[in-house]
Amino acid sequence: MFDSSRAPLGHEVADREARRARRLESIYHVGQARIWDGREVLADLVKQHGKPRLPDRERRALSRIFSIIMWGELAAWKISAQLTDQLVELEPKLAAASQVHDEARHFYVMHDYLALLGHAPPPMDFWSRRVVEMTLGTDNLTKKLLGMQLTIETIALTLFQHVRELRVEPVLADLLPYYERDEARHVGLGTQLVPALMAEMSIPEKIGIALFQLELLASSVFSLKAMEPDLLTIGVDPRDILAIGFRKQMEIHKSMREDFPAWPDDPPVNKLFHGLCELLFPSSGQGVKVPAATRVANAMAVVRRTREGVLEIAERERASA
Ligand SMILES: [Fe+2]
Ligand SMILES: [Fe+2]
Repeated sequence: MFDSSRAPLGHEVADREARRARRLESIYHVGQARIWDGREVLADLVKQHGKPRLPDRERRALSRIFSIIMWGELAAWKISAQLTDQLVELEPKLAAASQVHDEARHFYVMHDYLALLGHAPPPMDFWSRRVVEMTLGTDNLTKKLLGMQLTIETIALTLFQHVRELRVEPVLADLLPYYERDEARHVGLGTQLVPALMAEMSIPEKIGIALFQLELLASSVFSLKAMEPDLLTIGVDPRDILAIGFRKQMEIHKSMREDFPAWPDDPPVNKLFHGLCELLFPSSGQGVKVPAATRVANAMAVVRRTREGVLEIAERERASA
């Protein structure tokens, strides 16, 4: 006999699934509606501001940082093509397919911009390469989405926002909003799929995912450390990058919790990552010498949440500003 007690729950799940499918499909359609011609946009910006011009030291630093972005875009192009192939349902497949087209454009436009800046792009540093290779190399769909949609996209968005706000170079500053719009849409594929995939997992599988994520985040923060001298040259404080990145991560987690209330608020991976950031970028600030033992003790206190981390300090400063 029909079990009416199960019907509302069944409906709820079906509704949620249908809503998610519509959102995923709209990633493709919005992408189509907001598509931009990379050659036209770059040419117009050069016409408006003139060829990018910077003092030599800044020019080299900016080129090195955005070369990492250019190779990152190439990796994102490959990873989204893998996702297009790997995803079975049509709505997420559409979303990934539109991302492939976007990332291809991001790659060639960044390549052309760097050529205008006049500095041959060096290869990626060890840690940045590690982040993209881990994501490219895994066959696990959840790990791939975590790496691409929720980590690489967030890093790119964070750097783009800050470099745009500081107007380090006008052509780039006006080019980056086009990138940001696309990358923000790409995050959607991860926020829609990852919590559902994780909900189906056993505890050992979840631990495997958490370890992968921790290694990925640690590699990203080491790559930020490697980039530190260049960032400082163009006037970017890496701690500001961390604060913006954490805020973006918080927004992503909040949006995932709206659909999946069981999604953890402050998972252990988060705590460990915030501790590592304190270790590498001490809150005492740029150029202040902190003894190694104090650094470790402070980092441990951040992990235990008995000491404010980068995000809490930035939020407090923002509130009092
Ligand atoms: Fe991109
Ligand atoms: Fe992207």
